This record gives sequence, C-alpha cells and structure tokens, in this order.
Amino acid sequence: MEERLNESPLIRDDEIFLRMNLAERLQHILLIITFTTLIITGLPLLFYEMKIFKSMFAFEKAFYIRGILHRVAAVILIVNIVWHSLYTIFTKRGRANFKEIIPKFKDARDAWEIFWHNVGLTQFLYKKGVFKKFFDRHPYWLFEKEPEFGRYNFIEKFEYLAVAWGSFIMIISGFFMWNVELSLRLFPLWVHDIFVIVHGYEAMLAFLAIIIWHMYNVHLNPEVFPMSKIWLNGKITGHELRTLHPLEYRKILEERRKAAERASRIKSP
Ligand code: HEM
Repeated sequence: MEERLNESPLIRDDEIFLRMNLAERLQHILLIITFTTLIITGLPLLFYEMKIFKSMFAFEKAFYIRGILHRVAAVILIVNIVWHSLYTIFTKRGRANFKEIIPKFKDARDAWEIFWHNVGLTQFLYKKGVFKKFFDRHPYWLFEKEPEFGRYNFIEKFEYLAVAWGSFIMIISGFFMWNVELSLRLFPLWVHDIFVIVHGYEAMLAFLAIIIWHMYNVHLNPEVFPMSKIWLNGKITGHELRTLHPLEYRKILEERRKAAERASRIKSP
C-alpha cells in the first residue's frame, strides 16, 4: 500500500500496539481448530466417491469416529460463539470492536474505489488523452489514491459477517441434521432436505472462502507476506497501523496531540 502519512514523532514506526488481546486470539484459534475439524469430518460425506476420502475411512470404525468428531467440533464451535457474543456484549473492548466492525456506507465506497484504482482503466484512458477534459474537471474518477481504512477495512468486515451468518446457517441446519426425528416431527420432509442441501453447499462455500479469500488476505497479500502474525502475538507496529489502518492511526495521533497539549498547559500555567 502506498504511504500517504509520514511517521510522526508521537507514534514511532517501531512502537507496538495491541490489535488482538489474549481472549480474542484464543477465540480465533478455537475457530480455526473447530472449522478445520468440521471441514475434514464433513466434506468426506459430500464427496464420498473421491479416492482420498475412501482411503481416509479404510478401517471399520473410521466413519463412526468422523461423526463423533464432527459433533464434538460443532459443540465447541457453538461454545466459542457464545463466548465471543458474551465478550462482545459485556466488555468495553468487545463493544468498541463491534462498533468498528459494523459495515457503513464508506465500506461500499471503499470497495468501489479500490476496485477502479486497481483496474486502473480511467488512469490509462487519461494518459492516452481519452476524456481528458472530463477527468481534469472531475479528478475523483481517476481513482488515483487508494481509500484510507480505519480499524477494520471492508474485507475484514465482510469476512466477520460471513463467519457470523455462515455459522448461524450451519448451526441451525446441523442441529436438525443431528436430530432428524425432531426435524421430521416439526417440518415436512422437503424442509429437512433443504437443511441437508444448505449445510453441504454452505460448507463448500465457507471452505473456498477461507482457502481463497482469507488465506490470500492474511498470507499471500504482498503487504503481509509470508504471514500476518497478529493472530499469534496480537501485535501490530506503528508502521503497519500507519500504512494499513491510517484512519485509526490518525485517531490515536489526535488523542496523543491533545494529551500533549493538555500536559504542556499544566506545566506552564
Ligand atoms: C462451519 C461449520 C461446519 C461445516 C463446514 C460443516 C460441514 C459439513 C458437511 C460438508 C457435511 C456433509 C453434508 C452432506 O452430507 O450433505 C456435514 C454433515 C453434518 N453436520 Fe456439519 N458442518 C459444520 C457445522 C455443523 C454444526 C454446527 C453442526 C451441529 C450443530 C453440524 C452437524 C452435522 C451433522 C449432524 C451432519 C450429518 C452427518 C453426520 O452425521 O456427521 N455441522 N457437515
């Protein structure tokens, strides 16, 4: 990402900030473990004809154990979500994070602007002299600068929401797949069939979203390659804040400026 803000003496580039505290990191690690287990123990049912899955269940009890593991991971996933919800409601930090992660109109605008910035079509046309007068009058449409993000960018917000709605769908459908009798007592058969179909397709969607979208953003993206370590140590540097979350950086800067002003007023009345 291009650097638009210069390093400030009030926030050194090597200063360390806490982005994920221990509770948040543990919730994330639990999510990784449960999600991976659910995928490994669920996908073989969807693709039971594939060789790799057939060999996974070579011994007699393997299929039974798979079912148990899927249910244990499902329960831990639910407990983790309850923990995260309580943390979000009852802690100051949890509420502040949640407030920041709610999508706003700016996020849609950021996505639109960064798309055209990366495509570079209007800048290309401008260089070729096409619609030059229009672009001179309306430089916005050149999308020369990347939008500035706050604590969470639109990608992170979308990922969070995707986990929230995906988990909701998987828990409801999985609950009724687990309790088939209850499901058939409450609903006609076609509703139960929908639970099974939705559970399978949402699992594939979630798997692909994590492998392609999330892994790119936190590993392969040149800004963080080979891996962002925030999920392990919770730390982010002043430099990373300045380049990746400049609006949050500006906010901290402003707070420090005010604090410094107050301190100097107290010293020299
Ligand atoms: C992100 C989380 C989850 C993923 C990726 C996932 C994935 C899958 C997949 C791919 C299947 C096979 C579907 C089919 O055969 O059409 C499956 C089956 C199943 N899932 Fe899930 N699942 C998740 C969460 C849950 C949850 C939360 C529950 C329970 C509340 C659950 C309970 C079940 C049950 C009972 C089955 C039927 C097969 C069996 O007996 O294991 N799943 N899951």
